[in-house]
Amino acid sequence: MSDEVRPPASGKLSEFPDWTYLLDEIDSVYRFGSNGGSDVIAQHRRTVRDRLQAVVEADPYLIERTGDPLPVRIHLGRAIDRGSDGPLSGMTRALARVVDSLPWELAYRNVPEKLTRDLGYCELLGPRGPVPCADLILGLVLLAPHSSYPQHSHEDIEESYVTVSGSWSENDAAIFGPGSLILNRTNDEHRLTVGHSGPCLLVYAWLASPDLLTAPRTLFGGVPDPS
Ligand SMILES: [Fe+2]
Repeated sequence: MSDEVRPPASGKLSEFPDWTYLLDEIDSVYRFGSNGGSDVIAQHRRTVRDRLQAVVEADPYLIERTGDPLPVRIHLGRAIDRGSDGPLSGMTRALARVVDSLPWELAYRNVPEKLTRDLGYCELLGPRGPVPCADLILGLVLLAPHSSYPQHSHEDIEESYVTVSGSWSENDAAIFGPGSLILNRTNDEHRLTVGHSGPCLLVYAWLASPDLLTAPRTLFGGVPDPS
């Protein structure tokens, strides 16, 4: 992994086979992963796949984006190494091929300093790119060992998390490991906690109407992040 933060070069999606490789792996996880879920979860997975496939077939031009050199990126190497031994090894290998061009961002600006060191995310696909899509956002969340993503909800957005590497809890419900898929219905309150044993890397999907995904709102205790 390089310290340099580079934007994906401009061009059509099909000109970047490592990106279509990654999107194919995400499609596979939403098609075959976590079989046995409820009808509601099955519908969510189907909708993610349908919207993703529409993008791949449209073969859009990528949007160039730059990322932030976030502190939490120091944990990315270990997260990828651990993921390569787990059930999402294919996804992990695909991620490793694009890791130097991911546009990592600080999740929220007006949060305690520890959270700025422990949490980061990057979008892979969505209204802001790099792969443009109006009604679906796909991205990654990286959490440091022994960290917590505080209680929050996403206004009128349906969200799923797929665990690529590491283990974590949502609220106090369970411990989720690689391969698990967790659905948060619109406006569900949730808190993520990662233990001491290592970092946690998640893929997330957000489903909502295009106007909501253009300016998504995350609420902390019912109050939007002022950033
Ligand atoms: Fe969330």
